[in-house]
Amino acid sequence: MLKNSAAARDVRHLVHGYVELKAHREKGPSVITAGEGIFVHDENGKPFLEGAGGMWCTSLGFGESELVDAAVEQMRKLPYYHTVAYKTVNPAIDLAEKLSAMVPMDDPMIYFALSGSEANDFLMKFVWYYNNAIGRPQKKKIISRINGYHGATVGATSLTGIQVNHRAFDLPLPQVLHVADPNYLHGAQPGETRSEFAERLARELEETIIAAGPETVAAFIAEPVTGAGGVVVPPEPYYARVQEILAKYDILFLDDEVINGFWRTGNLWGAETMGIQPATMTLAKGLTSAYQPLSAIVMNREMYEGMESGSHGLGYFAHGTTYSGHPVACAVALKVLELMERRDIGGHVKKVSQRFAARMDRIAEHPLVGEVRYAGLMGAVELMADKASGRFFDPSLGVGKRIKERAEEAYQLIIRGLPVGDACAFAPPLIISESEVDDMFDRFEKAVDDIAGELAREAA
Ligand SMILES: Cc1ncc(COP(=O)(O)O)c(C=O)c1O
Repeated sequence: MLKNSAAARDVRHLVHGYVELKAHREKGPSVITAGEGIFVHDENGKPFLEGAGGMWCTSLGFGESELVDAAVEQMRKLPYYHTVAYKTVNPAIDLAEKLSAMVPMDDPMIYFALSGSEANDFLMKFVWYYNNAIGRPQKKKIISRINGYHGATVGATSLTGIQVNHRAFDLPLPQVLHVADPNYLHGAQPGETRSEFAERLARELEETIIAAGPETVAAFIAEPVTGAGGVVVPPEPYYARVQEILAKYDILFLDDEVINGFWRTGNLWGAETMGIQPATMTLAKGLTSAYQPLSAIVMNREMYEGMESGSHGLGYFAHGTTYSGHPVACAVALKVLELMERRDIGGHVKKVSQRFAARMDRIAEHPLVGEVRYAGLMGAVELMADKASGRFFDPSLGVGKRIKERAEEAYQLIIRGLPVGDACAFAPPLIISESEVDDMFDRFEKAVDDIAGELAREAA
């Protein structure tokens, strides 16, 4: 790092997430200064194909001037006002109206927050408030899944089922229980078929509910297709069984659509892709294509009415934040939804995801690849030492990390590593073209070939 370079100045005062803190201070970050389409540029003008859409979020790509204009226009008109204490703003009204017509629920109610974490955290509070309001004060536990990711606040980290996120943070909260990850590759017993695996996990969910006491269990939270925890598409009949069990014990299905929502899985909602009828949905990321921080909690009318009856008894709903329904963020989200319709992003994703699937299936044939998992434009490539015998790599070899790093350093492709096994994840901007999908996988294949060669030489 050059003295007084941006990287050197960065590490002097800026704390970063998901880095080894000391190593990061020594190595320094790469500084991204511009973006256009599916590419970002570093401070030296070097372009990188953003195969992860930033953090699975920049759906409309970088440099979309209509979104910039929407923000500027709203800033000029009214840069800020709040939505608490009997006030409101037009962009929040328009966005709530628009979203309520898009979600698979009748007459829902919507609360705006700033991030996926905040939305899931507030949702926990709302679920608890709701059950207090309707006279079920003991029904409070929330069941989440191992390797599900739901955010970074105290509540959302507790919902998250990734051990490293809990360690040394004194989490999870005691109200949260975790059940098995529906990741067949990592979780199936010897000889178990996919559907047997799904049935067993559903049975284990029911056993967990019974052991906890069904009268104490309020909700089950899941990403329809797991994102950061592995890009897991649960096998049938997992969700059908899960929903039967939740209905039997009057437990809410909290659908985390933070990654899945807005066409990522090939349909408007992950719930549609996986056949889920949720009681609530949390939305973020694609909602503004990440041009502004904004998230939403969508709740069914029954839950809202329960909360309303509770707030009536308590005087008022004692929850609110400075930026809920921020007019600039809502104006940008409205423009995102308009552009998605005008440009038929749904139709585009359905078309281009076929190319994505074809390239995923092709890389699955590589000797280093054990399995590929994908839905729409999100996918994971899992590296294995020997797919025939199901042998994983020794974690100390860091194969997934090496491929990810090689892709970025040698082939200017940014992808994401995953915390489960040795896997690399893809979630490119939804505007990616078929030829850009090919470009992305061509770069990735070169990185996989490089590391395969290195491993062979190391083993010799
Ligand atoms: C499924 C899911 N839920 C919640 C979150 C948390 O969102 P945020 O990072 O905006 O707080 C994420 C973030 O990656 C996510 O993938």
